[in-house]
Amino acid sequence: MSRHLLDISGCQTSELEGLIERASALAAGASCACRQGTVANLFFEPSTRTRVSFEMAARRVGLQVVNIDQSGSSTSKGESLADTGRTLSAMGVAAIVLRHAENHAPAQLAAALEGTPTRVVNAGDGQHAHPSQALLDAVTLHRAGFDDWSRMRIAIVGDIRHSRVARSDVALFERLGVAEIRLAGPDAFLPDTGEMPAARRFCDIDQALDGVDAVICLRIQRERIESTGYPDGDSFQRQWGLTEARAAKLAPHARILHPGPVNRDVEISASLVDSPQSLILEQVRAGIHARTAVFEWLIDAAG
Ligand code: CP
Repeated sequence: MSRHLLDISGCQTSELEGLIERASALAAGASCACRQGTVANLFFEPSTRTRVSFEMAARRVGLQVVNIDQSGSSTSKGESLADTGRTLSAMGVAAIVLRHAENHAPAQLAAALEGTPTRVVNAGDGQHAHPSQALLDAVTLHRAGFDDWSRMRIAIVGDIRHSRVARSDVALFERLGVAEIRLAGPDAFLPDTGEMPAARRFCDIDQALDGVDAVICLRIQRERIESTGYPDGDSFQRQWGLTEARAAKLAPHARILHPGPVNRDVEISASLVDSPQSLILEQVRAGIHARTAVFEWLIDAAG
């Protein structure tokens, strides 16, 4: 079977650890050898961080990049995603990086490309998975000095139900052996009972934050919420936001993460985004290295 990066569950733990180690080495200044080929960035949902960092990472390993959005692709004329993928593969594209609103769209694309040398990278599908974000979160924590996962307590707070980042983070942290993964949010934003069984659920943010080493804040993902019954920004901040008062109770070594985009003064106070405890821009930097490691891993396997 061809190698793709579709979700955390599709990778062996040794591969995940290898990607984190390689990305950390790249972040510390390791060089990478040039590969040849072209990457197609197929972004059918908005993105700043993921699209740009995949493009920068591809160039870093010597790959050419073509950027295609939905309105500029022939899917807007009725072509299926599978046929778009086969077309790009016929042109010799080495990898397709896909962001899509539908859960499992990257896996369907990979199935359509079976037997071709073209690799698929999931850059976020619906609320299902965002594996490169999870990898960069782990790289960020590792580089911030958290080098023993078995002693770490990590809280993920906010709209977990609609979050592909939360699903991939929990899956990766579980694989790495994180001691305790906590989920906190209003009932409507917690995953279904039975999903993410390894994580502890909290209905009180202050309890969830007690004694953690890291907190990952998540925005309300309104683009994936059909009902209008979710909290407004003010009441969400009061009950579930990482406020200055809440952050003041964190341990001095605890760090704050957010995958972005941030809604300041909703899920996190504006001042905390720029505080010394925040790793948010470190996550952005780690994203380039994590995605560089992903391209090396994919292209070399295709070799
Ligand atoms: N974290 C993340 O996926 O951000 P973008 O939507 O800007 O890519």
